[in-house]
Amino acid sequence: MSKELERLQKRIANSGYTSRRKAETLIVEGKVKVNGETVTELGTKVKPSDNVEVEGVKLEQEDKLYILFYKPAQVITSVSDDRGRTVVTDYFDDLETRIYPVGRLDYDTSGLLLLTNDGEFTNLMTHPRYKIKKKYVAKLKGYLMRDEVKALEKGIQLEDGKTHPAEVKIKNQNKEKNTTVVEITISEGRNRQVRRMFEHFGHEVSKLSRVELADFLTLKGLNAGEGRVLTPHEVKKLRNLAENG
Ligand code: URA
Repeated sequence: MSKELERLQKRIANSGYTSRRKAETLIVEGKVKVNGETVTELGTKVKPSDNVEVEGVKLEQEDKLYILFYKPAQVITSVSDDRGRTVVTDYFDDLETRIYPVGRLDYDTSGLLLLTNDGEFTNLMTHPRYKIKKKYVAKLKGYLMRDEVKALEKGIQLEDGKTHPAEVKIKNQNKEKNTTVVEITISEGRNRQVRRMFEHFGHEVSKLSRVELADFLTLKGLNAGEGRVLTPHEVKKLRNLAENG
């Protein structure tokens, strides 16, 4: 599909009007007009210059926003929680636009998380085909052994498949406390992947933080719970890395 063309339901969702699913319902119900004509076909594509009206309201194209957030531990990577726990978007209540997390960090994991209102960018960053590097610092119970490091560097068999080669660097080992602090860089984003990679060798992860993304984004200058807007150059660099490796 040409980069210019976009599915109608996506355009409606991206405008912040409603979710994509709700947008589909509105289209089917005949509540959406494109350039003054009612459209009920879900596959319809629109150009940026097309005038879209939903339930009589003309859509404004939203500015794209990309945020680098330092997620604290004990915060949920979601836009809502049925148990009332703090979610990442609670930190951005004042924004006029709806933003969503790009990928996820576990409840107990802290660190670098992107949020955006740009769905296409989210797909680019999270699709397994595009390999964006993520660096974590993990505190482990037990002594990480040399052969375990070697195995992680080659790839290990987890229940959902073999992991891609990881970069592993031991930062600190404490004999008395029987702990290891290790830096690990992976380019996949499977559920609880880092924790499972160490648990594979019997090392429970007691602390985990994502400290770097794509080799150039860090948490520098931020405290937990703070965020900053990515520069257009940073966004471009991320897109390039995803598309060109
Ligand atoms: N790996 C994990 O185990 N947890 C995270 O939050 C991120 C990567």
